[in-house]
Amino acid sequence: MQTSSFPIVIDGQLLPDKAHALAQQLNIPLMSPSNTEKDKPVMKLGWWQDGKKSGDDIGETDYKLALFPPNTGPVYVDFVTGKKNHRRQFGGGKGQPLARAVLAAEHPTIIDATAGMGGDAFVFASLGCQVTMIERSPIIAALLQDALNRAQQNDTPEEIQEIVSRLSLINDDATQYLTNQTPICDVVYLDPMYPEKKKSAATKKDMQALQHLVGPDMDSETLLKAALHVAQKRVVVKRPKNAPTLVGIQPNASIQSPNTRYDIYAIKALKAAGKL
Ligand SMILES: C[S@@+](CC[C@H](N)C(=O)[O-])C[C@H]1O[C@@H](n2cnc3c(N)ncnc32)[C@H](O)[C@@H]1O
Repeated sequence: MQTSSFPIVIDGQLLPDKAHALAQQLNIPLMSPSNTEKDKPVMKLGWWQDGKKSGDDIGETDYKLALFPPNTGPVYVDFVTGKKNHRRQFGGGKGQPLARAVLAAEHPTIIDATAGMGGDAFVFASLGCQVTMIERSPIIAALLQDALNRAQQNDTPEEIQEIVSRLSLINDDATQYLTNQTPICDVVYLDPMYPEKKKSAATKKDMQALQHLVGPDMDSETLLKAALHVAQKRVVVKRPKNAPTLVGIQPNASIQSPNTRYDIYAIKALKAAGKL
C-alpha cells in the first residue's frame, strides 16, 4: 500500500536511461526543476555509489538503487556488505530468537509475506532455507530486485551468491497471492508495519523510510488468515515486545527477544484443537 508522506520522484542524474525506464515501470515522474526539494520536500528514488571508486573503475553494479528521504542519507538493500552480512556472521545463527521461531524443520521452505528490506529473509536464507519474499510496494520491491541482481554478480563472494540463490521475489499483495496461488510452504512469516506511537531517535533510517513510504499495515489480520491456510507447519508473526497479538486466532507460543516477540501459530496443534 503506497501512502508516502512525501511526493516521490525519480532522480535521473546518474544512469538517466535506467531512470527513464524505472519511471515508466513504476509510473513515477522524473525529477524536474519544478519538483526539486526547493519548495517542498520530496522523496527521491535514484542511483547512488559510495564514492569508493571513481572514473573508469565504476561499473553499473557499483550503483545501488536507493531511496533518498528528505534530510536523510540513501536507503538501499545490500545483501553483500554491511548490516545484513554482519548479522549473518555474528547474529547468533540457529540460536537467535528469529531462527528459533521459524525453524519448524531442518530447512523449512519459507514465504516471507512482508519482505520489506529483506533483512529477515536474508537470515532465513543464511540458515539454508528456500525463501519466497513477497512485497506489495513496487518501490521496495524494486530496491530488493536491485540488491538481488547486484548480489548475483561474479565479484560477490561465493558464499553470499549461494545464500542469495535461495531468495526469490514476488511483487504482489501477499493476501491475494496466498489466496489465489495457494503455494505450498512449511512456514509463512509476517512482520507487518506496526503503527509508530512516537518518533524515536532509535528508529532506524530504513524503518523511517518504510514508515514514510508505506505507513502502518492495517490489514494484517486478513493476511494472517490467508497465511494460516497456506503454511503446512507454522505461521510466525513478529510484533513489538508489548504489542497485543493480532486479533482473531491466538498463537500457541511466543519467543521473546529484548524488543520483539515472535508469535507462533502451530498448524497441527490448531487443527487438533478445532481452531482451524
Ligand atoms: C516491517 S516491514 C518488513 C521488514 C522486513 N522483515 C525486513 O527484515 O526488512 C513490512 C513490509 O511488509 C510489506 N507488507 C505489508 N503487508 C503486506 C502484504 N499484505 N503483502 C505484501 N507486502 C506487505 C510492507 O509494504 C512493508 O514493506
